Amino acid sequence: MQGLLDLGAPESAARQPIGPDAWLLKGFALNDADALLAAIERVAAQAPFRHQVTPGGYEMSAAMSSCGAYGWVTDRHGYRYSALDPQGNQPWPAMPRLFSELAERAAERAGFAHFAPEACLINRYTTGARMGLHQDKDEQDFNAPIVSISLGAPITFLFGGPNRSDPTSRWLLEHGDIVVWGGESRLHFHGVAPLGKKASHPQTGALRYNLTFRKVR
Ligand code: SIN
Ligand code: FE2
Repeated sequence: MQGLLDLGAPESAARQPIGPDAWLLKGFALNDADALLAAIERVAAQAPFRHQVTPGGYEMSAAMSSCGAYGWVTDRHGYRYSALDPQGNQPWPAMPRLFSELAERAAERAGFAHFAPEACLINRYTTGARMGLHQDKDEQDFNAPIVSISLGAPITFLFGGPNRSDPTSRWLLEHGDIVVWGGESRLHFHGVAPLGKKASHPQTGALRYNLTFRKVR
């Protein structure tokens, strides 16, 4: 018997379309969630979470770290990818194999074969933290999809269209969920609503983590 909650076989799990070439893979990362959380701690021990500043001078409400060949950084000079962590000018921690393998499997389930992420941005949200509508467009290669893994407290994901003013649909992202978008949706606007006051998860308390995997070059 195969059901939507067949935790043993994420590859066969349901995929919910949320846009053209965009999918919500409910619970796809659940089997790996404990190991993902432990790996996030190891990455953060080397590259601590920090609140970056936008080019406009605003401190981002989500704290960030990165692993992989490139990290996503922002400061008064702009948004960009950097092979070095600007805090200490060291390379970012290596991307754990679990991360890249899971991201590749999720991309495959969404119809994007051979995804090879070069950057994993780790966002950490506390109560009230959010991510305003934006496009992921600091990459050179828009053929590769975006793979986004949610862990911890649930949050509302907003998925729009190619223009900021396009209507958005809302999706609850819970511990272990993965969203993959690419192709026609690759540059669609998206973001998350403020993390709710009562949002929590037994393993992370009031914290929510998001891993965003991207091919940069
Ligand atoms: C992002 O799009 O940058 C983050 C989305 C999320 O936290 O789910
Ligand atoms: Fe994004």
